[in-house]
Amino acid sequence: MLEYYDPKKDYGTPASASAQLITLAIDGIDVTVPEGTSVMRAAALADINIPRLCATDSLDSFGSCRLCAVQIEGRRGMPAACTTPVEAGMKVTTQNAELARLRRNVMELYISDHPLDCLTCAANGDCELQNMAGQVGLREVRYGFAGSNHLNADKDTSNPYFTFDPSKCIVCSRCVRACAEVQGTFALSISGRGFASKVTAGRDQPFLESECVSCGACVQACPTATLMEKSVIAHGQPEHSVVTTCAYCGVGCSFEAEMKGDQLVRMTPYKGGHANHGHSCVKGRFAFGYATHKDRLTEPMIRDAIDQPWQVVGWDEAIRFAADRLRSIQERYGRDSVGGITSSRCTNEETYLVQKLVRAAFGNNNTDTCARVCHSPTGYGLKTTLGESAGTQTFDSVRDADCILVIGANPTDAHPVFGSLLRRRLREGANLIVADPRHIDLLDTPHAGDAVHLPVKPGCNVALVNALAHVIVTEGLQDEGFIQQRCDAETYRRWRDFIAQERHAPEAVADDIGVPAASIRGAARLYATARNAAIYYGLGVTEHSQGSTMVMGIANLAMATGNVGRSGVGVNPLRGQNNVQGSCDMGSFPHELPGYQHVSDSLARERFEGAWGVQIDDEPGLRIPNMFDAAIAGRFKGLYVQGEDIAQSDPNTQHVEAALRSLDCLIVQDLFANETAKFAHVLLPGSSFLEKNGTFTNAERRINRVRKVMPALAGKEDWQITMDLANALGYPMDYAHPAEIMDEIARLTPSFSGVSYERLDALGSIQWPCNAQHPAGTPIMHTDDFPIGKGRFAVTEYVATSERANRRFPLLLTTGRILSQYNVGAQTRRTENQAWHPEDVLELHPHDAEERGIDDGDWLGITSRSGQTVLRARISDRMLPGVVYTTFHHPHSGANVITTDNSDWATNCPEYKVTAVQVVKVSEPSRWQRDFAENLKRQQALMAQSDVEVAG
Ligand code: SF4
Ligand code: SF4
Ligand code: SF4
Ligand code: FES
Repeated sequence: MLEYYDPKKDYGTPASASAQLITLAIDGIDVTVPEGTSVMRAAALADINIPRLCATDSLDSFGSCRLCAVQIEGRRGMPAACTTPVEAGMKVTTQNAELARLRRNVMELYISDHPLDCLTCAANGDCELQNMAGQVGLREVRYGFAGSNHLNADKDTSNPYFTFDPSKCIVCSRCVRACAEVQGTFALSISGRGFASKVTAGRDQPFLESECVSCGACVQACPTATLMEKSVIAHGQPEHSVVTTCAYCGVGCSFEAEMKGDQLVRMTPYKGGHANHGHSCVKGRFAFGYATHKDRLTEPMIRDAIDQPWQVVGWDEAIRFAADRLRSIQERYGRDSVGGITSSRCTNEETYLVQKLVRAAFGNNNTDTCARVCHSPTGYGLKTTLGESAGTQTFDSVRDADCILVIGANPTDAHPVFGSLLRRRLREGANLIVADPRHIDLLDTPHAGDAVHLPVKPGCNVALVNALAHVIVTEGLQDEGFIQQRCDAETYRRWRDFIAQERHAPEAVADDIGVPAASIRGAARLYATARNAAIYYGLGVTEHSQGSTMVMGIANLAMATGNVGRSGVGVNPLRGQNNVQGSCDMGSFPHELPGYQHVSDSLARERFEGAWGVQIDDEPGLRIPNMFDAAIAGRFKGLYVQGEDIAQSDPNTQHVEAALRSLDCLIVQDLFANETAKFAHVLLPGSSFLEKNGTFTNAERRINRVRKVMPALAGKEDWQITMDLANALGYPMDYAHPAEIMDEIARLTPSFSGVSYERLDALGSIQWPCNAQHPAGTPIMHTDDFPIGKGRFAVTEYVATSERANRRFPLLLTTGRILSQYNVGAQTRRTENQAWHPEDVLELHPHDAEERGIDDGDWLGITSRSGQTVLRARISDRMLPGVVYTTFHHPHSGANVITTDNSDWATNCPEYKVTAVQVVKVSEPSRWQRDFAENLKRQQALMAQSDVEVAG
């Protein structure tokens, strides 16, 4: 019997990975399952459902409740089905009078200490305890309710999203195990013994004050109403659900959006999701309230100039106004005077349409994406070395990794569900190396072995990766077989001669980069000698003046050690936003058509020209920073921005604002009137991920379906708005559904040629390339060869950034994210996630604080060569002395007022991670912050007439 898997069913215990099959008889039915399967799971696979309370298939079996007792021929007693593995020839009985009596007795004991308020309980109808009481036929409780009990235990409502009501707890420990096994936080424990045993968060603290990160795994696992979503308590049990994809980070978790009418009641992580397997983080699980927030834009608006009030108009008028303005700009300033920016938060179909609009209706290649400011070096670096602009693995591949090198990434905050998977592998014994200026939480993974921390100074990554490679090459740790067979001999020889030079030795660079030579040598040996070694990296690699060089250095390391092309290895960029990979794949960059086909490639161009019926420029268009420069120079006058807040997210805010002020037509299409909207002439209300159909592509190249669960608040989905704008410009677009857009993408993009909504629905998700050779997609890339034939080593000369600390700016500022907020915060700031991070702060080392007389919570003026802002101090020994850190989730923090416009030499990705600053105690906001507050007031006054809230 093959194991058929229904993701909506709970099989009681996890699946066994064994290939060895075993046949047994359960209630007289022959069942064949993999060796290592529990009797409970084997029975469930045969549709024989054994009662259970402490077992669930996301957790290892525990065997505490005794409800699942069975009888096995030839064995004494009544063993627990959840902890008993199947054996060949076993004969199991799951139902008889003796078993029924035992189960009823067990259940009676539970119910005698449980409130009998089922009818008014929020879990009524969705409670395993209630179901099991019915299933075992419990009709009376002989013990009464007068004895000692827990019925008056206090409820903990501190967490913004769920409650903990110990009066309903049966101490089954599922929550404790979920927090440990699935999430890896170990925030919960069972304290006390016997009757006094109870679930405790942290050191017997309220949930909110404990180390709980609000992932929801315990709530998901709880079989009673003890741990319960507040949204279900408020709205009642959901009535129907739709499987869709989280719109926050690049993990791309699948969820069941559970609805009551048009009301979203709960987002339940979907067990059938190939990226998350039923796990979630606080953002996707709980932070969906922004979708119905009162700040949502619901009507289109226009104005002639940015100091004029907004005028609410109908869709037709807004679109016509935008199209007329764009056309008159082009007539006056030329075809290249307008452009568009796609969003990595929108769907593939939507980003595809925006770049098509620019290329076909605007008639130029002035299209770019917010991926410019995060992962453009990944595209360049990986394409140059491995031949494809994408990560090489599935997330699940990490379960086969023996050594995990994390560079410039903070997965437990920025990619939390993958962070949990990674922690699971660390607990199983994999070695961890972290290269990061900060002591990130991953280094403190509970129950994992010792980790190696390489606290590299900001800006020194390339020197570090070269030193690691130097050790590998000079100590003979490279994989000659792989290199000979899979890599280009000439580029390898050149690289080897370069990297073997003494100037790259750990001892030669240690002082400059801040990492002891012995640590570098140890880490290089650990990585090179592991059976499987995998690299995961993030924006701490790409957002540097040598971001592309560093990506190539990482690829060199993987190729030199043969860590490419199988499970457990590879080069894995952790993408920040939900659809960074997709927006790059869809041709958002000015030099590439969809599928990374260069605009100078006449064959590719001809294909698109044939399909689109226009001529496509063979010269790359403007990148975002070029657009800003051209705007300030008066050559670039019109910009269409889809779902992206460039005024907040791009570096050197004053420069960006000056550019936006220079435009004659700025069209902002977004959920909210964001910072960029303050400079806009047309506001087009966008649709949230809940209001549209489409696809997102996550960091493992996985194309996931986004499914509409409620109508678009303003009446149009984003792809429809772009289509309307194209039509108003005289370029016909006529799609009835995003599936038709995907069909067009598949026709024109070789790596997507096998993708369709039908196939996505049938397979659940697909990792591209998906084509005739790989109709079900490609989980692991480069298994036999590279798209460019042989892998190409790149010489990675280290060139120190010009942004250096000196006497005037003695500290280096680096930026990043935290778990509860997301990017510019437009969504998460409009949810209860504010409870965890209501403001951005500046983290600094105790030594730097003491030197400046700074106490925790002081206001600090942070000055760089670009500008000044003011943030509160948080003293933290996670920092290196000399390095300070902040997030950029709140617009008034002005984190990007101080970042410079230095950028990656190859791609212009901004150097967010290195800004030389000075920090002093101050008592008032910076000038920029005062201007920001005034501008906010002005824009609020202009909006007042149209009753629209302005972000603040
Ligand atoms: S809170 Fe829920 S999952 Fe945790 S022990 Fe109590 S009943 Fe079990
Ligand atoms: S919400 Fe997540 S982190 Fe918090 S206690 Fe539950 S499982 Fe642990
Ligand atoms: S890990 Fe990322 S994709 Fe998954 S729920 Fe959290 S934010 Fe969403
Ligand atoms: S379900 Fe088996 S002992 Fe609880």
